[in-house]
Amino acid sequence: MAPLSSLPLFLSVFFLAVATASSAIFEERDDVVSNDNPLIRQVVGDNDHLLTADHHFSLFKKKFGKSYASKEEHDYRFAVFKANMRRALRHQKLDPSAVHGVTKFSDLTPAEFRRNFLGLRPRLKFPAHANKAPILPTDNLPTDFDWREHGAVTPVKNQGSCGSCWSFSATGALEGANFLATGKLVSLSEQQLVDCDHECDPEEPDSCDSGCNGGLMNSAFEYTLKAGGLMREQDYPYSGSDRGTCNFNKTKIAAKVANFSVVSLDEEQIAANLVKNGPLAVAINAVFMQTYIGGVSCPYICSKRLDHGVLLVGYGSSGYAPIRMKEKPYWIIKNSWGEHWGENGYYKICRGHNICGVDSMVSTVAAVHTST
Ligand SMILES: *[C@@H]1O[C@H](CO)[C@@H](O)[C@H](O)[C@H]1NC(C)=O
Ligand SMILES: *[C@@H]1O[C@H](CO)[C@@H](O)[C@H](O)[C@H]1NC(C)=O
Repeated sequence: MAPLSSLPLFLSVFFLAVATASSAIFEERDDVVSNDNPLIRQVVGDNDHLLTADHHFSLFKKKFGKSYASKEEHDYRFAVFKANMRRALRHQKLDPSAVHGVTKFSDLTPAEFRRNFLGLRPRLKFPAHANKAPILPTDNLPTDFDWREHGAVTPVKNQGSCGSCWSFSATGALEGANFLATGKLVSLSEQQLVDCDHECDPEEPDSCDSGCNGGLMNSAFEYTLKAGGLMREQDYPYSGSDRGTCNFNKTKIAAKVANFSVVSLDEEQIAANLVKNGPLAVAINAVFMQTYIGGVSCPYICSKRLDHGVLLVGYGSSGYAPIRMKEKPYWIIKNSWGEHWGENGYYKICRGHNICGVDSMVSTVAAVHTST
């Protein structure tokens, strides 16, 4: 798919104002990021352009249904919005093959964003104790692959304002594995993990799954193995809060973990495990995701400090805009911020050099074969 063809739908007014034709964004990138561009001066809110920045903020509030309790709060959010416009421009400069701009997170500071919309417990090392996935042959891998085309991926979900990304990454991987084991795609319960899973990382005993305050996918698989399985989403629906009690009912288990293992850092092994075993639970540094609108993200600089759990569902061999980088391959990532973020809820990130740490914590899970 040519990423540009679908972009206008997701472009914010900000970028539409910068370039009416989407392809022009890339050709005129230098103009886009230049301070001499009057349109940019408007959105970044130089003091004498406040009215226009105000206009963009109004559009943002309308589009995302934002309202603020007080004038103080409103003014504060406006200041944050303007700072995020400047960040989006910096991100655009550092990540020219993606499009960055106004997203539903544009009124949040980076710290608020991390606290409320991520939720991976920081982990410093590759899990040494865990089972290692067997090394697979890589010679006959397809050049492009997408589990969405094979029925193994449920619709995009939304974690809301809760640091429960880890539970969505874990259910996504088990949904795919369960599909491969049973032939049925069943949406599984994140809320069961949020409420009932307090499993700790065997190597870092202080790091335990804790609802909206974060967790780890491997710990979620360990919990699921011990508990017996996960219930359906519809039997244990998501509330986005971790203040409830555990309502797990063993008689309603819909999917069971047979085993799980970590995949080596090697990208060919990651691809081979993806194709053979289904979507993979992966961790990533999400700093570029707050301003991401579409395209293939391939920042020149990105921290490898992992702070977000997502689902790797496929890869593409080529497909991004700037001519010289056309052949660069990318990963296709399912996120848990609803369908109105990114490309219908998805993120594309380039393959090849562990960008934003995407290759550093990859897990594969197998489901028990059942006939029910
Ligand atoms: C668990 O589910 C079964 C089957 O629907 C039901 O009969 C039972 O009452 C439930 N147990 C609890 C504790 O809710
Ligand atoms: C994991 O479980 C699956 C399904 O039962 C099985 O086929 C596979 O061999 C197991 N893998 C490992 C590494 O034990």
